[in-house]
Amino acid sequence: MRTLSILLVISIICSEFIPVSGSQANANSSGNSDFCLQLLQQMTLEEKIGQLHQLSLRGDIGEETKKAIRAGKVGSVINIEPRYMNQVQELAEKESRLKIPLLYGRDVIHGYKTIFPIPLGQAATFNPGIVREGARIAATEAYSEGIRWTFAPMLDISKDARWGRIAESLGEDPYLSSVLGAAMIEGFQGKSLADKYSIAACAKHFVGYGAAEGGRDYNSTNIPPVLMHNVYLAPFRAANQAGAASFMASFNDNDGIPLTGDTELLRNVLKNKWQFPGVVVSDWNAINEMIKHGFATNRTEAALKALQAGIDIDMMSSAYTNELQQLIAADSSLMTLLDDAVLRVLRMKQQLGLFEKPYNEANPSLLYAASHLESARQAAEESFVLLKNNNLLPLKPEWNTLAVIGPMADAPHDQLGTWVFDGEKDKTITPLRALREYTGRKLRILYEPGLEYTRDLSRKGLKKAVETAQKSDIVLLFLGEESILSGEAHSMADLNLVGLQSELVAEISKTGKPLVLVVMAGRPLTIEKEIEQAGAVLYGFHPGTMGGPAIARILLGDVNPSGKLPVSFPRHTGQIPVHYNHNNTGRPAPEKLPSLYEIPREAKQTSLGNTSFYLDYGFRPLFPFGYGLSYTRFEYSDFKITRNELHSSGEISFSVKLRNTGNYTGTEVVQLYVQDVVASVARPVKELKRFERVQLKPGEQKEVVFTLITDDLSFYGRDLVKTIEKGLFRTWVGTDSSQGLQLEFKY
Ligand code: GLC
Repeated sequence: MRTLSILLVISIICSEFIPVSGSQANANSSGNSDFCLQLLQQMTLEEKIGQLHQLSLRGDIGEETKKAIRAGKVGSVINIEPRYMNQVQELAEKESRLKIPLLYGRDVIHGYKTIFPIPLGQAATFNPGIVREGARIAATEAYSEGIRWTFAPMLDISKDARWGRIAESLGEDPYLSSVLGAAMIEGFQGKSLADKYSIAACAKHFVGYGAAEGGRDYNSTNIPPVLMHNVYLAPFRAANQAGAASFMASFNDNDGIPLTGDTELLRNVLKNKWQFPGVVVSDWNAINEMIKHGFATNRTEAALKALQAGIDIDMMSSAYTNELQQLIAADSSLMTLLDDAVLRVLRMKQQLGLFEKPYNEANPSLLYAASHLESARQAAEESFVLLKNNNLLPLKPEWNTLAVIGPMADAPHDQLGTWVFDGEKDKTITPLRALREYTGRKLRILYEPGLEYTRDLSRKGLKKAVETAQKSDIVLLFLGEESILSGEAHSMADLNLVGLQSELVAEISKTGKPLVLVVMAGRPLTIEKEIEQAGAVLYGFHPGTMGGPAIARILLGDVNPSGKLPVSFPRHTGQIPVHYNHNNTGRPAPEKLPSLYEIPREAKQTSLGNTSFYLDYGFRPLFPFGYGLSYTRFEYSDFKITRNELHSSGEISFSVKLRNTGNYTGTEVVQLYVQDVVASVARPVKELKRFERVQLKPGEQKEVVFTLITDDLSFYGRDLVKTIEKGLFRTWVGTDSSQGLQLEFKY
């Protein structure tokens, strides 16, 4: 049965080909839909295996590697520098027998040269348009330097800020991650992969990687099938629907099965059930690592399990190039799996137009283009979340002597964030530089870092920082994390500010000067104490090259912040996981909770409240998913169901009126949440189902309309079949996940 389904997939892959003329063994590809099949039929076993072998090459390559490429034993290369690309491509395209071009890949995660906010920051924009634009710009710059494949978007649902890779994620919500992940894929891939400046996207890490136990990277995950289908697979389903050219399997073992060897999820769900026609690449050395997982005895078994599970390309483990030949000699039935994998790779290369245009024509004028920097600044502006504002922001006209203090005020490298290989720190405009260069009004900038970097344990700069604060009208204190403290393999058990940053806040706070905190980090931090000492707090997830101008324009009122949190902020690390879309449990915590120090001494052994909360930190987060303030105020009214045709057209529509009742033009992210109150499996207390950015002038009002379809109200039950069940639904519309106008309806 399985062989038949694979043969079916092979014919589907070929039938979808958009044949292009190639310079390889005289196959006339134009108009001939069997282009890849013809090529496959000419390939030796070694050449087939070669297409599945991926190398990471930096610098000039040695003779061994050149020989392997000439022999057709390498299919794709990552991390190669642009200056070597064409000469290495010639080894394949001119000197190999079938002249199959190499595919060049790179981690272009949130920008190539022009660096956008880290994906968690882009998620805070709740703006698919700017996210798509950012990916488009990244693709344009990367393409202009020869890159045709990026390992992005990262779509791992992340509810644990201890996990360093939350920085690369789009946050805790499946719907937001699905919408923005699809936007990134559209941005990277454009209308056609064959178009100039289109590069192949890679939906990663499939799947569940963000649920690492303890938030410790690479750790095991234990996601049961129902939760897997309702939450963790959701953004990947959207990625497949958006036409992602490739997927990357994740490092984690889920319920004991490494995803690299998980036939159920890779082959049965992704390739067969979802009919994904593209390429699945392993993560770095992950095939070999199945030995360490205790899932394979040796590299031979690891290679077999990976091929059977559905890994097409082996990233950097060399298991395929060393083991597949003997495996196929021992079991010729594996050839069907091999051919399927090779066809997927050939198809991707063909769709990218590589057979026609294997060489790169560099165009350095595109790097850091003014329009790119402008978009990066807009993305950064929209990524900042105003967490608190006791009427300090925007900075009052009379406040012109500004103390700029803190280790992140002028940190051009760290402001870029994690996963930046090609962006250059000397292109970064920091807040200090932006404020010094600001021309919108006359400012006197007094700068004293106080701490040299976020982990600085030296107190030698604190005194001067305090003295500087005392000379100012208001203090702008820039704190957070160096970029190396988040990202891959950089998990933290404690989310408090590192180093002496908290002490710096306390010392500055003692001056009594108005204090604005501006935080730049790769994750939520537990900064409740510091927030209490400040009059205003602006939070950014490493905002990239143009973070400085974005911050300056926000602080000085040229831009009204509109960011919303894509992830809940814990009050204390011990609360994690503290996400909004949790189940109710049989004993949900009450509104009013006892405070730890109000509990009487020798209290009777009746459990306090008999409900689910922490005696010391309650159960609510510091800030909920979707939270973010504005310089203006928005009022919601008249929330109603305008059309309920769920049982005929399968649609239900809602409307709500939104008015700007403040003094500034501003943008509100209107959010619609739904709860399936009773179902055959307990459903979350609420789930985001729609959102819309709405800009209003002071006094302006707009009616916002949302339409849901039955699929939005459906879920995967015990049988893993998506279904909608009769019963009561609740829905909220509002400014974040903790509040809103409420309605009920029945299905
Ligand atoms: C890394 C990451 C993956 C990345 C790959 C190539 O280990 O897990 O996200 O794309 O290797 O750099």
